[in-house]
Amino acid sequence: MFTFFIYFLYCKHLHYVNSVPRAQNVHWVSLDFTTHLRWSVTSSDYTYTVRFSGEGADWEESPNCIQISASECDLTQSLKASDRAYSADVLTEIMDMDYELPHTYSSKFNPYRESNISAVGFTVEPLDRRVIVNITDPLTSIYDRGKQLSIRDIFKKDLNYKISYYKSGSTGKRDVISNSSMTQIQGLDKGESYCFMVAAFIISRPKATQQGSWSMQQCTKRDWSVVAWVVAGFIMLTVLIVIVTVTVLCCRQRNKTLQTSQSSAPV
Ligand SMILES: *[C@@H]1O[C@H](CO)[C@@H](O)[C@H](O)[C@H]1NC(C)=O
Ligand SMILES: *[C@@H]1O[C@H](CO)[C@@H](O)[C@H](O)[C@H]1NC(C)=O
Repeated sequence: MFTFFIYFLYCKHLHYVNSVPRAQNVHWVSLDFTTHLRWSVTSSDYTYTVRFSGEGADWEESPNCIQISASECDLTQSLKASDRAYSADVLTEIMDMDYELPHTYSSKFNPYRESNISAVGFTVEPLDRRVIVNITDPLTSIYDRGKQLSIRDIFKKDLNYKISYYKSGSTGKRDVISNSSMTQIQGLDKGESYCFMVAAFIISRPKATQQGSWSMQQCTKRDWSVVAWVVAGFIMLTVLIVIVTVTVLCCRQRNKTLQTSQSSAPV
């Protein structure tokens, strides 16, 4: 009878534990290494605790996400920016510590490979038939000994930039990959306006996350003095051709007249 009673209590408890809502739709959101774990809840009566672990390491509780009622946890300071996958686990807090808390695992997340990279700022400076593109490496939320790290500090040689450009008024686009934050685009038409867009491009990453967001487009101004010289040159050439043609024609005409007058002269 007593055993049965204990069993009854146990079942009742199990039923209670099972009816406690788990975090749902647990997912990562990460931009420039600012990384949050988000989830959805079906009841606001519970609080949640987040624990995380780097591959092969023990679970640790995230200090600012213990018994929180929010459905989001900032894990930026807990995850290292090295190439390593992390898992997280969202536990629904209930009073009874005798049982494993209802919980939901996140998918694995590796900030180095999966954190989105925002659009970069850059300047363009035309120089004769070249343009110098100067890109500012975006800053991340990761600090090392008090210094805020840029994406260059984290990715080092893995960080390239994709530069896409076209001549104003034409549809043909060209892409260039540069491994440096400052680069020259060569072989451009003198004095023409060109438009540029830039995106971070991390060569070691899988295709789906390789490219950061595109920047806003920047265009160089058309150099009207060059255009004016070209037009002036064209006009002068035309005038020259006309003069030469007219001169040649006139001379021929005159020669003909001379010849005619000579041949018609009485012998
Ligand atoms: C990165 O951005 C894409 C497109 O906006 C989004 O679908 C994805 O969830 C983002 N990934 C992370 C980890 O935030
Ligand atoms: C490139 O941009 C950075 C930051 O905007 C600036 O400090 C640097 O002087 C620029 N370099 C050149 C050559 O324009």
